[in-house]
Order: sequence, then C-alpha cells, then structure tokens
Amino acid sequence: MTRIATAQLGTSGPEVGIQGLGCMGMSWAYGPTDADEARATLERALELGVTLFDTADVYGSGENEKFLAPFLAAHREEVVLATKYSLTIDPQDPSRRTIRNDPAYIRQSIEGSLGRLGVEAVDLYYMHRRDVNVPIEESVGAMAELVREGKVKHLGLSEVTAGELRAAQEVHPIAAVQSEWSLFSRDIERAVVPAAAELGVALVPYSPLGRGFLTGSFVNAEKDLSQDDFRRTQPRFTGDNAAANAALLAPLHEIAKARSASAGQIALAWVQQRAQVHGLTVVPIPGTRKRSRVEENTEATRLVLTAEELAALEPLAGEVAGERYADMSFTSAGRD
Ligand SMILES: NC(=O)c1ccc[n+]([C@@H]2O[C@H](COP(=O)([O-])OP(=O)(O)OC[C@H]3O[C@@H](n4cnc5c(N)ncnc54)[C@H](OP(=O)(O)O)[C@@H]3O)[C@@H](O)[C@H]2O)c1
Repeated sequence: MTRIATAQLGTSGPEVGIQGLGCMGMSWAYGPTDADEARATLERALELGVTLFDTADVYGSGENEKFLAPFLAAHREEVVLATKYSLTIDPQDPSRRTIRNDPAYIRQSIEGSLGRLGVEAVDLYYMHRRDVNVPIEESVGAMAELVREGKVKHLGLSEVTAGELRAAQEVHPIAAVQSEWSLFSRDIERAVVPAAAELGVALVPYSPLGRGFLTGSFVNAEKDLSQDDFRRTQPRFTGDNAAANAALLAPLHEIAKARSASAGQIALAWVQQRAQVHGLTVVPIPGTRKRSRVEENTEATRLVLTAEELAALEPLAGEVAGERYADMSFTSAGRD
C-alpha cells in the first residue's frame, strides 16, 4: 500500500497528506450514519496517508468533535486536527443560525472544542464564517492569542474574501483558507485563489465532490435523500435545477469511463490540477463515511488529466443552475 504524497499548509503550517478527510457527514447533515463504518473509515484514511482530519464545533452541535475523540486519543501524533468556531445552528430549526467572531466567544469556543475533542491543542483552528460586524483584525488577534497560549498551532479562515484574507494575514500568518471549490463551484477563482497564491496560503477545498452530486450518488435531493439532509436546502440540487445539472455531468462520466476511473476521482483530480494552474498548494477534504470510498478518493491523487480532458470540463461551472447555498451571504462570493 502506497501512502499519498504530502504538502505543507502555508509557509509555516504543518505537512499533511495532499488529500484530507471531511468528517462532517459522520455525525451531521447527510442523513443516517453507520458509526462503526465511519470509525473504520478514519483508521483506513490514516493508513492511506491522509493526515488532515476536518471537523467543526457546529457539526451536530459538538457531536462530531466528540465522535473523533477516541480516534484522536489513539493517534494524536499522526493526525493534523482541524476544527472551526463561529457558527451555531438550532437543531430544531436549522434555518436559525448565529455567527459570532468576537474575542470572548472565540475564547469560550476553543475551550469547548478542546474538551469535546479530548486534546490539549488544535493543529489548525478556523474561523468558520465571518460576522461582518466584528473587524477581522480583532478576531484574528484573539485567535493569535490562542496560538501564543499553545491552545492552537496554526490559523485558518473559511469562506473569506480576498480582502479579508489580506487583512488577517497582516495580523498573523494564515496557513489555510477553506472554501468550496469543485468543478461546479469556482467563484473563489476570481479573487480568493489568486490572493492565497500570492500570500503563500494553502487552499483546503471543501465539498470537492459537489456534496456527492458529482459522483452521481444522488440527482434530486428532495427525491433521493432523507428528510433531514442539508442538501435539500441547496437550490442546485432540487426542482428543475437538479435534472439540468445532472445532464451537465455527461463529459465527466465520459472521461471517467475512458480512464476506467469513477466520476468522483475525475472531480478530485480536477481540483488538484486546477490549483497547479493557479500556483498554489491545495489539500481537498472530500467527506466520506465509507472505507471503500476513502480508498477510491485517495487513489485520485495519482490521476493526471490531459489538456483535452480539462478543456471538456472547463464549461461546467458556468452552466450550473442554482446557487451553492440558498443564502449566498453565507459565502465569500456573497460579500465580494
Ligand atoms: N467550511 C465550510 O463551510 C464547510 C462546508 C461544508 C463542508 N465542509 C467540510 O468539507 C468536508 C467535505 O465536504 P462535503 O462532505 O460537504 O462534500 P463532498 O466531499 O463534496 O461530498 C461528500 C458526499 O459525497 C459522498 N461521497 C464521498 N466519496 C464518494 C465516492 N467516492 N463515491 C460516491 N459518493 C461519495 C459522501 O457520502 P458517504 O459519506 O456516504 O460516502 C457524501 O455524501 C465536510 O466533511 C466538512 O468537513 C466545510
């Protein structure tokens, strides 16, 4: 078994496997979970050279961090642990959410995360979402204090604009920006990606499989997914948009067939290669709860697409019907 290659996050961040693992779905947002298989997936990922494991305090209102605790207790030295603060979502009514970035909240949040994760320090601590009422310098200043106190090793930001990233970097080095980036979601290529490349900040694309849509594992969220699945709220996966978007995947499926690969593998290889075009380090974090899929996904790090294949995939994002969130103010593109 060959382990995946490694890369450094930012100019002074940790060395990690070039693909990480998104753990959110193990406890939240994507319907019923087999906890034993999810635990086995964590172990299998580590064997394959995945070292960056991604969670957040909001995933299951702390449940996802608690779920990771035994795995971390067994493998603390091998894992680069990333979690996030700022967002709370009402479990009874997911449309009710709050975003907080003030220093007092950040201090309270890290203590909560450390306790649930059962660790002394988090390797990469992200601001999950920006509260525009708090100057980013103030939030990053509070995060930098956590670094000085040894509670956090490196800092990250999620769904920030290029301007916010530049302002933050003035306060403390940012190791990584985590934002949505896939064949279907390329808005960050306008300003965020060039800024990250210029500043030497790594990109950690979330939802690189388009939340599973690019793999063909579902077509219409309302028909194919469970009642509580978050993807039912996303305009591109429902109604007429879903069918129109599924039809766009024809070139992806054709390439996958010709290469004896899966559509998901082609989508992951695309993100890796797109980052090379922009000259920046990228560590996608596809989410899966299944061993066979983490094997399939990590194998994609070895796949290189041809110029013709990349050209065939180029128009997809421009043709997608429907936004990636119902409320785009939740994203950097909504503020740019
Ligand atoms: N910063 C943010 O705001 C933010 C937002 C969303 C997500 N995230 C993070 O990013 C991670 C990844 O994003 P994501 O989970 O939303 O989307 P994703 O990685 O694009 O897709 C995950 C979905 O694809 C399925 N899947 C994975 N590998 C597959 C394969 N080889 N074949 C078929 N289906 C496959 C998974 O199902 P199974 O689990 O059943 O395999 C899951 O339903 C999350 O876990 C979370 O840690 C961050």
